[in-house]
Amino acid sequence: MIKLTSMEPTRIQTETLVIPVCPDQAIHRAKAIRAWIRQALAVPTFQAKKGEDLARHHLPDVKASRVLFVGLGNQADVTLDSYRQAAGTGIRLSQHAAAGDAVLVVPDGDTGAGLTRDDILVAMAEGALLGNHAPNHYKSEHQTRPLKSIRLQTDAALVRKSQIALKRTTAVCTSTLMARDWVNLPANEKSPDQLARLMAQAARRHGIKTTILDEKKIGALKMGALLAVGAGSAHPPRLLLLEYHPPKARGTIALVGKGVTFDAGGLNLKPTGSIELMKIDMAGGAAVAASVIATAQTGARQRVVGVIPLVENMVSGDAFRPGDIVRATNGRTIEIGNTDAEGRLILADALAYAAKTYRPRVMIDMATLTGACVVALGEKIAGLFSPDDALRDLIDQAGRDVYERCWPMPLPEDYRELLKSELADMRNIGPGRWGGAIVAALFLSEFTGKTRWAHIDIAGPAYHKKASPYGQPGATGFGVRLLCRTIAALQTQ
Ligand code: BES
Ligand code: MN
Ligand code: ZN
Repeated sequence: MIKLTSMEPTRIQTETLVIPVCPDQAIHRAKAIRAWIRQALAVPTFQAKKGEDLARHHLPDVKASRVLFVGLGNQADVTLDSYRQAAGTGIRLSQHAAAGDAVLVVPDGDTGAGLTRDDILVAMAEGALLGNHAPNHYKSEHQTRPLKSIRLQTDAALVRKSQIALKRTTAVCTSTLMARDWVNLPANEKSPDQLARLMAQAARRHGIKTTILDEKKIGALKMGALLAVGAGSAHPPRLLLLEYHPPKARGTIALVGKGVTFDAGGLNLKPTGSIELMKIDMAGGAAVAASVIATAQTGARQRVVGVIPLVENMVSGDAFRPGDIVRATNGRTIEIGNTDAEGRLILADALAYAAKTYRPRVMIDMATLTGACVVALGEKIAGLFSPDDALRDLIDQAGRDVYERCWPMPLPEDYRELLKSELADMRNIGPGRWGGAIVAALFLSEFTGKTRWAHIDIAGPAYHKKASPYGQPGATGFGVRLLCRTIAALQTQ
């Protein structure tokens, strides 16, 4: 939980008082803070460059036990994400073995052109909430714990004005941490049924209608592609439906998320080096579930449904094979060229089902779909595909707003022939390696009918090996802020 306070910084009792600092500009007005910053900048090891920090203990006339200065870098280069990062760094450095507390001072001086104090406050709240996560659940000795209390210090007027924005930010960020926790769970603790129940349980707490379809119901819906991918696992597939239906809603947004709880590759088994991390292959599903939950918490006037196919792609005598031909729920037949191109198969059934069942005005899927997308855009940027330019631009802008970056990718019609099959309506892979992310997106587009649709490939940004300013090593929760912002933007359309 995060709270706002307008108490004077010198009088605040806390373990750590965090102060963002620009080396070249006084971004705080309070005389005391300015004096501390002058002293801090006189320490040779602290130049207030981006990411630098300096802790001073027991300063005179301060109630806080420790003042932590966090560098933002020169004012001209400071963005909202600099504030997110500074807050995240401040919080991560304030954590310890017990559940502690910290107070972050929101700058009230000359923060330069373009950034409003309202936006800076929200960005700092985001960085703080996202940084306050300690995923060491499986360690017998806890090394760090999340802080039990975080406060943001600002003036009384801004405290009053920011309550609603803070509530919204808290909903989005706590949901993001939930998505991270689901992705970080090892595959032996998240079979499709277990994960469906975990997600449904979290959703029900916020008044969302939840339905879990088991393998029999999936069979009755003739979802041959989803069943084929699940056939090799001892843990049968599930289809999770999350429906947020507020009164007086105007139209539906459908979110579809890839939920492969472990991707061994199937009979086209992944080699050592590629298989180890494949518990994260449900990150799209996690982002979708978390976004529906956050949206319900903020009381959007928009119907939002989440459709999450959950399945484990494994090897056994019952596993589906290369050369098999399966029939998706919309009647289309698919020749399996490679069992490791399983994400597009389960999304085919889920997209066709979502389009037919909910007739949404917009449908967006999110998936850790291709290694090729990581080759193209690296580990920090998601691939964004849509035949609808306006929808693509809207999502692109949402990504800039929340700093979950997307890059528009093409859907060239003449590449469609790469999916041709001699025997069936299509194949699930192309003949070669090139353009793998595009080929996968074109495959998905075969199952969206006339629905306005976009696809976001998050194979790169779903997971970070190293810590970042507002993220521990591991799952990033990428996509939750992006989808929540996108839903909010679509609501005004
Ligand atoms: N889950 C993988 C994609 C992936 C790769 C996610 C790296 C996260 C990190 C997906 O199911 C897959 O195996 N894709 C294949 C497709 C190929 C067989 C056409 C790939 O990218 O190699
Ligand atoms: Mn795969
Ligand atoms: Zn996969």
